[in-house]
Amino acid sequence: MTVIAVFNQKGGVGKTTVTANLAAALAQNGHHPFVIDLDPQAHLSHYWGLDRPGKPRHSVHEFFRGLVPLSDLAIPLDNGIHFVPSHLELSKVDAQITRHRDHIWRLKLGLTAEMLADSTPTLIDCGPMLGVLSFAALLAADLILVPVAPETLALNGAAMTERTLLGLEKLDTRKPRRYLLNRHTPGSVSSEAVLKQMQRHFYNEVLKTRIRASESFEAAVIGQSNVFDIEPNGSAAQDFGFLLDELVENELVTL
Ligand SMILES: Nc1ncnc2c1ncn2[C@@H]1O[C@H](COP(=O)(O)OP(=O)(O)O)[C@@H](O)[C@H]1O
Ligand SMILES: [Mg+2]
Repeated sequence: MTVIAVFNQKGGVGKTTVTANLAAALAQNGHHPFVIDLDPQAHLSHYWGLDRPGKPRHSVHEFFRGLVPLSDLAIPLDNGIHFVPSHLELSKVDAQITRHRDHIWRLKLGLTAEMLADSTPTLIDCGPMLGVLSFAALLAADLILVPVAPETLALNGAAMTERTLLGLEKLDTRKPRRYLLNRHTPGSVSSEAVLKQMQRHFYNEVLKTRIRASESFEAAVIGQSNVFDIEPNGSAAQDFGFLLDELVENELVTL
């Protein structure tokens, strides 16, 4: 089983979209992925209708406070996903870096102690801030998945992310990481240019799968759903099927 951190220091590149729909792809295939929203802005929790502004007690913040195990915080969703929501309170963990220095290992320890990492694929949706929370996700991960959007400055975000990952190697062994072009429009100048730059910088760490731009992603957010329910035969569902296949075939994800 594999812990996947979906990470990029740039916002709006598709981290939450990739987490939500890769989890849905796993669920489609009969798995019961464990999904953690580690962004204090709680976009994924909002997306799945599970943000509870007044209730920090039911969020991953309680785990970081050392009060509740992750498995007790997980909410079972209809499609078999187990989801640990986030809460704005979680930003306190990032804000008080010195006080919470030991928190960077907490997620790895928790996933191991609760034997979650052994029993079920786990996905972590990271926020764009580089603080305790992102480090905790990266240290807990077996695979780091970096979505990249086809924009002029996209490579800046990816290069910044690469530097962060290099820094991480002082604390832990080098983790496999894969860069995923998202919001791809085949043949468009920006998509093809960014893809070329990605391949030049990251070589075989660029996934062959590309997630094409599709309205289904927005429709899925509006419907608190996923692209497999919205349009099972559409390009978005197809691309997430390809993504899961590529990760499994290359033994980046074991099921
Ligand atoms: N492949 C795609 N095609 C169309 N829209 C997309 C695609 N991927 C993401 N989006 C949209 O882009 C916006 C930002 O994506 P999001 O996953 O929230 O990024 P992040 O988590 O990195 O901030 C969302 O409105 C999402 O629906
Ligand atoms: Mg997000």
